[in-house]
Amino acid sequence: MTTMMHTYDQFPIDIVDGHDFYLTDAKGQDYLDLTAGIGVCNLGYSNAAVKAAVTDQVDKVWHISNLYPNDLAQAVADKLCPSGYQAFFCNSGTEANEAAIKLAHKATGLDEIIAFDYGFHGRTAGSLAITGYPHIQEGFDPLMPATKLIPFNDEAALSAITEKTAAVFLEVIQGEGGINVGSKSWLQALQSQCQKTGTLLIIDEVQSGMGRTGYKFAFEQFGLKPDMITVAKGLANGLPVGALLAKTEVAQSFQPGDHGTTFGGNKVVMAAANAVLDQLTPEFLAEVQDKGATFLADLKEVLADLPTVTAVTGTGLMVGIHLTDAVPVDHVISLLHQQKILTLSARGNTLRLLPPLVIDQGGLIKAVQAIHQVIADLS
Ligand SMILES: Cc1ncc(COP(=O)(O)O)c(C=O)c1O
Repeated sequence: MTTMMHTYDQFPIDIVDGHDFYLTDAKGQDYLDLTAGIGVCNLGYSNAAVKAAVTDQVDKVWHISNLYPNDLAQAVADKLCPSGYQAFFCNSGTEANEAAIKLAHKATGLDEIIAFDYGFHGRTAGSLAITGYPHIQEGFDPLMPATKLIPFNDEAALSAITEKTAAVFLEVIQGEGGINVGSKSWLQALQSQCQKTGTLLIIDEVQSGMGRTGYKFAFEQFGLKPDMITVAKGLANGLPVGALLAKTEVAQSFQPGDHGTTFGGNKVVMAAANAVLDQLTPEFLAEVQDKGATFLADLKEVLADLPTVTAVTGTGLMVGIHLTDAVPVDHVISLLHQQKILTLSARGNTLRLLPPLVIDQGGLIKAVQAIHQVIADLS
């Protein structure tokens, strides 16, 4: 019996090393990585600037607590925040969302929080209550009260947002939920309803942010301006981090003593985040958009004639291949392991692809060919 709790079903691949967009197992075999540690290691496994920033900081001081000013955290906030926002740093996506829930209650004085069916916001008590999966919530009652889940991409459902609603939590592209892309007109109608009712719009960019879709924040491509933004995963390329960004007038509802965390803004993590943000240049983001557009078009083209593929969705390098029940996604993932390719699943029998953003055309072409072959063989 192991001393680790059985909270994960794991694949029998012992990863011990990595380079560029490849991971290496204990037998020395390289795997083409289309997972990026679930959308985290966006700059891959050999990023010299992140490595140098972290090792330099490790030689100085690792952690000082939030009782002293932190120039590295200030620099990350300056680079991360859109104009007119302020940042709070924590250690994960779910913590960023917990901070957003608390700030929404404090800023509005209201209870009700609305989120969407099959949205995913994390597994701590508050985030779990707004995660729209009955099976993930099951067994954990009582959940945070005054939460409501409504259908995604459904204009009629927006009337549930009223003057009594403190905040709406939204992923513009649902990741765990199956790479469901919000339609621009629906997202804009949602924002209008929030503005009309004085409801805070909180966009969860934990999976879709930090360049994943070819934009710093995925909502930029839909013309939205949320009151709060949460990020995590890719922000420090694999060191644990989360951040809540809020418009200054909202952020001011948090005063000393209202919220905090021991590790948030940790010097080593902030050194990594600084190096990541320096590399999210307009040119880098444009390249991700181009690579993503080609990848999506190639997948759509080769998979079009397979009746077991019902849709290919996504933007940038956040892609979902939706399969019929005839082709179980776990089986596809295992067969891709035999071809030395790592992939992910998402809800609804979806093969989910979140490669490091530094993947090259050769890697993407290899991925398209292997995925086509595996699904075709099973079809
Ligand atoms: C959109 C979204 N929000 C929140 C989370 C929770 O983040 P973490 O696992 O860092 O707590 C995730 C994790 O997958 C996510 O995809």
